[in-house]
Amino acid sequence: MLEFFITATDTDAGKTYVATSLVYALVAKGKRVAVYKPISAGCQQVGSLLINEDAQLLQAAANCQQLITNINPIAFEPAIAPHIAALQCQKSINIVEINEHYQKLKTLKADVIITEGAGGWRLPLGNGTFLSEFVQQNHQKVILVVNMKLGCLNHAVLTYQSILADGLECIAWVANCIEPMPYLQENITELESLLPIPKLACLAFEQDMKVAVKQFDLSALY
Ligand SMILES: Nc1ncnc2c1ncn2[C@@H]1O[C@H](COP(=O)(O)OP(=O)(O)O)[C@@H](O)[C@H]1O
Ligand SMILES: [Mg+2]
Repeated sequence: MLEFFITATDTDAGKTYVATSLVYALVAKGKRVAVYKPISAGCQQVGSLLINEDAQLLQAAANCQQLITNINPIAFEPAIAPHIAALQCQKSINIVEINEHYQKLKTLKADVIITEGAGGWRLPLGNGTFLSEFVQQNHQKVILVVNMKLGCLNHAVLTYQSILADGLECIAWVANCIEPMPYLQENITELESLLPIPKLACLAFEQDMKVAVKQFDLSALY
């Protein structure tokens, strides 16, 4: 079973977009793919459930018939830092709980599990803990989504170095070109030399995710 964790240089960098298109690409290759979005903030109350759009997008792409509450067990309504959202409702985020849900998900016997992080690499969970510790405890291989904009070289290198300093493998990166950037190609070339790992995809702004799905070089994953 292959286990990947999708992180990014920042929030709104394209983690969900990349994770979802990667899931579609793997499913198209005949893989059984399960998905996990342990923590979300920015949800809609639907009956007794808090539903997160990222989790819905991942659910639609994956093919292990997972319930939305298994995909996203920890959900908060306001779109704010999750541990602050937790405090607002007198809760705390427990890394043991995140791990327990992940272990359940592993019993689905998927070929690949794609986990989408929240925010950037060093997302605080409160009480001095970070979501990156969950990745350390489960040894997922990390994929770094770089939102191609001014400042991304610094963010990408800092994130890459933090992942390595945590004893983890960052196996590939994605150039996600959401907004116009002056000297885009020069910046991509710079990242190719700064990050000594394969580029999994270079995605332009694509309304139709089906176009993005075709851009992935899946050989970087195996
Ligand atoms: N390559 C892309 N082409 C088109 N839209 C994109 C692309 N990457 C991200 N987006 C859009 O940008 C927004 C932020 O991306 P998202 O994947 O939700 O970021 P994150 O999960 O890191 O917070 C979303 O509306 C998403 O659909
Ligand atoms: Mg997301």
